[in-house]
Amino acid sequence: MDEAALRDQLAMLGASLFQRGYSVGTAGNISVRLADGYLMTPTNSCLGRLDPARISKLAPDWSHIGGDKPSKEVFMHRAVLTARPDAGAVVHLHSTYATAIGCLAEPGETAPIPPLTPYFVMRVGRSLPVIRYYRPGDGAMEGDIHEAAKGAKAVLLANHGPVVSGRTLADAVAAAEELEESARLALLLRGVGARGLTPAQVDDLLTTFG
Ligand code: 13P
Repeated sequence: MDEAALRDQLAMLGASLFQRGYSVGTAGNISVRLADGYLMTPTNSCLGRLDPARISKLAPDWSHIGGDKPSKEVFMHRAVLTARPDAGAVVHLHSTYATAIGCLAEPGETAPIPPLTPYFVMRVGRSLPVIRYYRPGDGAMEGDIHEAAKGAKAVLLANHGPVVSGRTLADAVAAAEELEESARLALLLRGVGARGLTPAQVDDLLTTFG
């Protein structure tokens, strides 16, 4: 897909996430890897009302070269996209249920959402490392996220929200949605002794679809 088509797709998927309540206000940001740099949602922009022409463009060295001023979370996106060369996009949300899990989980935990259903395992994987709290935009978060992202498609920022990568933008958005719904299920079923997938079932999914 060329840059113009990716800009349109970013605006379309941002609106879709916003309309369905995965993002509110100006929360969340999205980045896409290009052949000659990166696209990034502008800071203080609403994912529901992105103007494709004003989406920020960053050079391969992550300097701002076009569009509006980029998200303050450039470090977060850089941490994941440099740790995962196969990832083409990163979606960061403050989606309610995943963020709730991020307020319960302990930093250092790697599976705060149990494997209850196949698509969580297929889209997000076995591991969802919990990163300790950093202030939004704090560049100090980059090292922790970078290390964790080497072995995980998504990480959960304590008291903040999920950061989800995918091979393509559509994949990253789908994984972020799956993560949110899995967090919702996990909270619905918390403490009632729900049956999760067994380690063998998780292995089978990752072997078949991983
Ligand atoms: P930006 O508006 O700078 O993208 O920040 C929003 C956000 O989600 C902070 O984590």
